[in-house]
Amino acid sequence: MDRYVVIGNPVAHSRSPEIHARFARQTGESITYERLLVEPGDFARAAREFFASGGRGANVTLPFKVDAFALAQERTARAGQAGAVNTLVMRGGDILGDNTDGAGLVRDLTANLGLALAGKRILLLGAGGAARGVVAPLLALSPAMLVIANRTRERARELAHAFAAAGRVEGAGLEATGEGFDLVVNATSASTRGEPLELPGGLFARGATAYDMAYGDSALPFLEGARAAGARASDGLGMLVEQAAESFLLWRGKRPETAAVIAALRAA
Ligand code: ATR
Repeated sequence: MDRYVVIGNPVAHSRSPEIHARFARQTGESITYERLLVEPGDFARAAREFFASGGRGANVTLPFKVDAFALAQERTARAGQAGAVNTLVMRGGDILGDNTDGAGLVRDLTANLGLALAGKRILLLGAGGAARGVVAPLLALSPAMLVIANRTRERARELAHAFAAAGRVEGAGLEATGEGFDLVVNATSASTRGEPLELPGGLFARGATAYDMAYGDSALPFLEGARAAGARASDGLGMLVEQAAESFLLWRGKRPETAAVIAALRAA
């Protein structure tokens, strides 16, 4: 059977094995998909060993997405824009690196949540690796404006500057985000670190959506605040399943149906 893994640290909590098992059943593909815990500093060795022993593909999660970018001998354009790799696959003897996170977010926003974002105002909170991976895919939706707001203002400005050619994008401090956004995406790690995310009032336009790229309890503080401010709120479980579906497509040439998988994970 073709072998796949998700590499991370920690990785025990990863829901990817369950997601890919469901995709495999649904599409009739015969694969194994396991967790691979790797120590910091040991990523390249462990990943090379996995592929040398016949492994076909890997998902890469925190904290190794930049290591995976460095390891890949070839990269897709979207991996290049993200500066990070979450999907590896053996192609013609070389390790190809892709990044499906941005596509997964956009698919959850547009196909699952039904948002039409052309001409709308989008606020992206955070300017770290998670934020960087979704800037180009969000700009590809042709929003009227994408504001990237970060606690460390300079990082937001640098990120906006790096993508200036891809659309209307500005960087700001968290205290000066502006108001009236149709979509606010939380890509900070504040809640996973157990820290409060201090946000100004007036962020949400009428009918706005708040989206946290984390899922489960980690997403609650931001989403509860957003709901209290009148926004529709969604965690990132749909993004997790959609980025997995993009990886599965790259590996197996088949795009799984995601709605039933998202529903099953929510119910579990
Ligand atoms: P990741 O790859 O998950 O994005 P990262 O590169 O460490 O991780 O970035 C974390 C992001 O969360 C950054 O934008 C960080 O803001 P700073 O650049 O100012 O550090 C943001 N962040 C983390 N804790 C935060 C907090 N308590 N309040 C606001 N932003 C926070």
